Amino acid sequence: MLTLSQLAALGLAVSSLCSATPEAAGQSLIANSTIVPSEAAARKNAFAIFNSLHSALRQWGSSLNHNGMSLFLVIIPPGVVLHHGTHSPIPPKGPEWLAFEIEHAEQFARARHKFPPPSSPGSEPGGRPGVSPGPPPFPNAKDEQHPFPFPPAISSKDHLPHPKPWTKVGGEEESHGYLHTYRTIAPLPLLYLDGTSAGNTPQGTLDTQDFLLRLNRTADIMDEWGRARELCDLVTAWGLSGVIRMEAGFEVILCDFKDPAIKFDGARQRPDAKFERPPGPPGSGRQDEGEQVRIFEYMRAVARRYDGIGSGRANIDWRAVVSALWYDVDVVWERGMPRLSGLTDEQLKGLRSRIEELVRKRGSGAETESGIDWQAVVDMIVARYAERLQVMVQDESLLQLIRVEVSSLLDTYIDYGEKDEGFSAAMARCAKMYTSPLTLTTLEDHAILAAVETVTFAICTALFDVRKLVVENEDADEAAVEKAKQVVKNLMQKLGWTTFKKCTPGCGYGEVCFIPMWPFGDRDSYKKPNCRNATTITRGWWENSYWDWMFPRKPPSDGEGSRKGLERGNAGNL
Ligand SMILES: *[C@@H]1O[C@H](CO)[C@@H](O)[C@H](O)[C@H]1NC(C)=O
Ligand SMILES: *[C@@H]1O[C@H](CO)[C@@H](O)[C@H](O)[C@H]1NC(C)=O
Ligand SMILES: *[C@@H]1O[C@H](CO)[C@@H](O)[C@H](O)[C@H]1NC(C)=O
Repeated sequence: MLTLSQLAALGLAVSSLCSATPEAAGQSLIANSTIVPSEAAARKNAFAIFNSLHSALRQWGSSLNHNGMSLFLVIIPPGVVLHHGTHSPIPPKGPEWLAFEIEHAEQFARARHKFPPPSSPGSEPGGRPGVSPGPPPFPNAKDEQHPFPFPPAISSKDHLPHPKPWTKVGGEEESHGYLHTYRTIAPLPLLYLDGTSAGNTPQGTLDTQDFLLRLNRTADIMDEWGRARELCDLVTAWGLSGVIRMEAGFEVILCDFKDPAIKFDGARQRPDAKFERPPGPPGSGRQDEGEQVRIFEYMRAVARRYDGIGSGRANIDWRAVVSALWYDVDVVWERGMPRLSGLTDEQLKGLRSRIEELVRKRGSGAETESGIDWQAVVDMIVARYAERLQVMVQDESLLQLIRVEVSSLLDTYIDYGEKDEGFSAAMARCAKMYTSPLTLTTLEDHAILAAVETVTFAICTALFDVRKLVVENEDADEAAVEKAKQVVKNLMQKLGWTTFKKCTPGCGYGEVCFIPMWPFGDRDSYKKPNCRNATTITRGWWENSYWDWMFPRKPPSDGEGSRKGLERGNAGNL
């Protein structure tokens, strides 16, 4: 049988390739896993796959499409500095958390505090570890210590769980905060879980960890220690040093701080914070200007990673990439986001053994080629089309402009000396412009190719439709222009590129283009990201949080809120 790329070389439309089985792509590549990539599944989820390739290790798209369905082998090269904020100058044993951004780690560089819990006054602080900005101080929590004093999603004053002052705990050695610095001195291999995988939500952000890697459908959302320990047991057995996840900032769960690839550079004591009570929502009388600035600077720091983690600080090994989106498994969609809750145990185990197999194979050193950089491929596609599509649908865009845009995009694929009925040859050149030179090596490559070409085929089809409306039709009128714009709008809707949501024309120096990044953010900013400054940064975080929390919300006062509350509540049920 022909492989997909051979078929592609024959210029067949991608949509006619549905019958190609994964086996056709190379039996010899299948080793021990019970599950193999499926080009049919890849085509079905093509737009989501395309966007996950685009967003890998990028704060922007991974915040918007927060339910990551993919696992990647990622290497942090030697010479990368990582940070850890804690209450002690001594390096921990691990597993513990390291942050890529210093401002992220600073949030945890504090003395340990506890607040008086309403229900269990004597309980000891358990401590949410490391750099994760931790759970809100909610009632009945097992962890009474909360290193990160911003309780989101609290809708009114009388539902503030801990209005009383916080008190320090521990002896002298725990009475200050410390910022630790570590650096890599050898390549550090990690398992990267995409999306907002450090977000402790019931919305699906933990699916790859709890359902897939831990095979646990009833895991406690807030049990970060249990999660870290179990993930470390798993990935260290595969030869990895830990996990990369993302919340507001990227972080590493380092399994063992004696890892020979890591060097401790020292700890610096932080100034003691006035830490009397957690800040609260507007009107609570518990807002502090210094705190606001600190939050803003943290948001500014992580916003700098919207388009990439920076300076090659973490590199994907494209030979070891697995996504639930390109296997025949029962991914379900909730509120527009994929979930793993519908997968059978067999399917979950199959995916887990597939990523294990790929990781182990790479670790053995048997293969040295790093594979196709799929992110670079989709970047080329987004760079060519994104802005031009956006310009075409603007209200003020007239016939002449759309004609020029679509012609300049498509002329390059047309051979005007060729008899090309219905532009099918030009269409194939358009759809395969960035993929035809690639040499596929893994079975996953074949699935990813099917997804990427499904997307480019949709783009090219829509653009040739537009061309027909406004270029081939020399008498195009207002109605034709409107029709063309509708074609482009439908395409953009299907693409769902996260770049379409960027703030235009951009924000000022003292501002960030803000989107919800766990645990922060409001629902309105999810719909329409907007410029925020140090005064407005926390707007809506408390009373209109985007994120679902594990404690009961205030009963809604109006019908609208009630419906919303119910939807959000239900979505969390496993
Ligand atoms: C498949 O399993 C066998 C036996 O367990 C093992 O020797 C072999 O290395 C495995 N192959 C791969 C590619 O993991
Ligand atoms: C899943 O997690 C829950 C809560 O953390 C725990 O009680 C249970 O034993 C776990 N189940 C498995 C199969 O590990
Ligand atoms: C932030 O913007 C608001 C108006 O949008 C303004 O009132 C406020 O002074 C600004 N704050 C800072 C710190 O620039």
